[in-house]
Amino acid sequence: MSDVNHKTDNINNIDETPKKSVKEINLLWYFLAPYKKIIFYAFIALVVAASATLAIPQAIRRIVDLGFSSVSIEFINLYFLALLGVAVILALATFARYYLVTWLGERVVTDIRREVFAKVLTLSPTFFEKNRSGDILSRLNTDTTVVQSVVGSTASVALRNVLTLVGGLIMMLYTNWLLTAYVFMLLPFIVAPLILLGRKVRNLSKFSQDKIADASATANETIGAVQTVQSFTQETFENNKYSRVIEGAFDVAILRTRMRAILTFCIILLVFAAVDLVLWLGARDVIAGKISGGELTAFVIYSVLVAGAMGALSEVYGELQRAVGAASRCLEIIATEPDIKAPVDPKKFPDMKVGRLTFDHVNFEYPSRPGQQILSDFNLDVKGGETVALVGPSGAGKTTVFQLLQRFYDPKSGTISMDGVSLSDADPIDVRKHLGIVPQESMIFAASIAENIRYGNQDATDQMILAAAKAARADEFIDRLPEGMDTYLGERGTRLSGGQRQRIAIARAILQDAQVLLLDEATSALDAENEKLVQQALEKLMQNKTTLVVAHRLATVLKADRIVVMDHGKIIESGNHEQLLKAGGLYAHLAGLQFGV
Ligand SMILES: Nc1ncnc2c1ncn2[C@@H]1O[C@H](COP(=O)(O)OP(=O)(O)O)[C@@H](O)[C@H]1O
Ligand SMILES: [Mg+2]
Repeated sequence: MSDVNHKTDNINNIDETPKKSVKEINLLWYFLAPYKKIIFYAFIALVVAASATLAIPQAIRRIVDLGFSSVSIEFINLYFLALLGVAVILALATFARYYLVTWLGERVVTDIRREVFAKVLTLSPTFFEKNRSGDILSRLNTDTTVVQSVVGSTASVALRNVLTLVGGLIMMLYTNWLLTAYVFMLLPFIVAPLILLGRKVRNLSKFSQDKIADASATANETIGAVQTVQSFTQETFENNKYSRVIEGAFDVAILRTRMRAILTFCIILLVFAAVDLVLWLGARDVIAGKISGGELTAFVIYSVLVAGAMGALSEVYGELQRAVGAASRCLEIIATEPDIKAPVDPKKFPDMKVGRLTFDHVNFEYPSRPGQQILSDFNLDVKGGETVALVGPSGAGKTTVFQLLQRFYDPKSGTISMDGVSLSDADPIDVRKHLGIVPQESMIFAASIAENIRYGNQDATDQMILAAAKAARADEFIDRLPEGMDTYLGERGTRLSGGQRQRIAIARAILQDAQVLLLDEATSALDAENEKLVQQALEKLMQNKTTLVVAHRLATVLKADRIVVMDHGKIIESGNHEQLLKAGGLYAHLAGLQFGV
C-alpha cells in the first residue's frame, strides 16, 4: 500500500489552507483592477474634499484676523464668498466620493459573490465532505457584506482621515510650530490609553460576532428540524438552548458596549483637556502679541480635525482588519483548486456513442477515509446497449461505482473508461453529459413541475417536456394537480410522494436522453401500484441504452442481461437469475430475502 496518500494530500479543506495575506491582497486587487478608472476618480474626489476641508480654517483665520479689525466691508464679503466657494467644492467632492466609492463596494461584492458561487459549483464532493454548507453560505453572504462595507465606505473613510491627519499636521506646523510642539508632547498621553481601550473593544467585537453566528447556527438547525422538535415535544429544551446562546451574545455585546462607552468618555475628556491646555497656552501668546487671534483659531480647528482623524482611524482600523479576514475567507474558496478537473488537453469521446463502460483493475478509497479500500480490483465490462443489474448488500460499494462513473472521484489505481476514453483524461462535464442519472433520492427543486423536468435539458420545448412526463408515467398524477405542469413543488419537493418524485426524476432523465443510464433503484416509499408505474417508466427509459442499475426489485433483475453481485467492493458472482440461483451463493441468499424467491 505504497500509494495510500495518493489523494489525501490535495484534499481541499478551506480551514487548513495556509493564510497568505499578500496573496489575498493581490486577489482583492484582482477584483478591484477592472475598475481602475473609478478608483482614480474616487481618489481625486477624496483629495479635493480633504484639501477643501483643510482650506476652510485658513479662510476663517483671515476672517478672524481681518474681519474684526477696521477693514473695509468688501474684504469681508470677499472672504465669506471664498468660504462659501470652498464649501461648494467640499460638497461636490464629497458627493462624488460617496457615489463612486459606494458603487465600487457594491460592484466588487457582486463580482466576488458570483465568483464564489461559480467556484463552489466546480468543487468535488470531497470539498463538501470537509466543509459545512452553512459555512460556505456564510462566506457567500456575511463575509461578502463585510468586504462591501469596507470597500464601499471604510476604505475611503480611512484614506480621507489619513489625508486629513497628514494635511492637518502640516497645516498645524505651518500655522504655529511652537504650539504644534506642545501638542506632540501631549500626544502620547492621549493616544496610549485610546489604543489600549480600542484593542479591547475590537476583540470584544469579534467575540460578539462569533456569538451571534453561534446563535444563528443554533436557530438554523432547530428550525430545519422543527417537526422533529414538535413530535418529541422538545420545545422547552430547544428554547432553553437558544436562550442560553442568545443571552451569551447579549452579555458579550453589553461588555463591548461598556468598553466602548468608557472609550468615548476617555476620548472626549482627553481631547478636550488637551485642546483646553493648548488653547490656554495659545491665548497667553495672543495676549503677549506673539501670535494673532486668527492663527490661534485656525490652529485649534486643525488640531480638532487631526484629533478627529486619529479617532476615526483607530475605529476603522478594526473594521479593516475584520474585512481582511472576511475577504480572505471568500478568496480562499475562489483560490481552491477542485480535486477533479479537466486535464489541460481533455480527450473527447467518439462522436458515435456506443456507451461501453469498462472498469479495469480499479482500486478506490474515499479521500476522506484513506486506508479503507472501498473497491478492490474491480473489473467490469458493460457492452453498449447492455443492461447490467448490480446486486449486493448495503455498503457493498454499488453507489460508489456510480460516483466513480460520474467522475466525482478518480480511482486510486486502474482505469475506468467510456467508449475507450479513460475518464481521468476527460473533462468531468463532458463525462456527465453522457450519463443519465436517476438517483435513489430524487432531488426536486423549489420550482414548477415543468421546470423540474426541464432540468434534464434546458433547451427542451413544452411538447418535449409533456412527452417525457407521459413516458415516465408522471402524467397520471400531474393531470390531477390543480395547476398541472405549472404546479409549484416547494422546497425539496415535499408536496409530492416518494413515487411521484421518482417519476419526475425519470422524466428528467428521459429528456436528457444520454447514451448511458445509471439507475439507483429505490423500493422504499413505493406501493405496489406506484412500483408498477415506475417500472414501466424505467423500461421506456432503458430502451436502446447502456444501463447500469442498482436493483432492489425482482422485475428489474429479471429484465437485466446480466446480474453482477458485489460484496465488500468486489464482484463475487455474475450471470443470469437462474444461473445464480442454481449456484446457491450470495445471490441466492439475497434473492431469498429480498425477492422471496
Ligand atoms: N463519501 C464517502 N466517504 C467515505 N466513505 C464513504 C462515502 N460514501 C460511501 N462510503 C463508504 O463506502 C462504502 C460503500 O458505500 P456505497 O457505495 O454507498 O454502498 P452501497 O451503495 O452498495 O450501499 C460504505 O462502507 C460507506 O460507508
Ligand atoms: Mg447505495
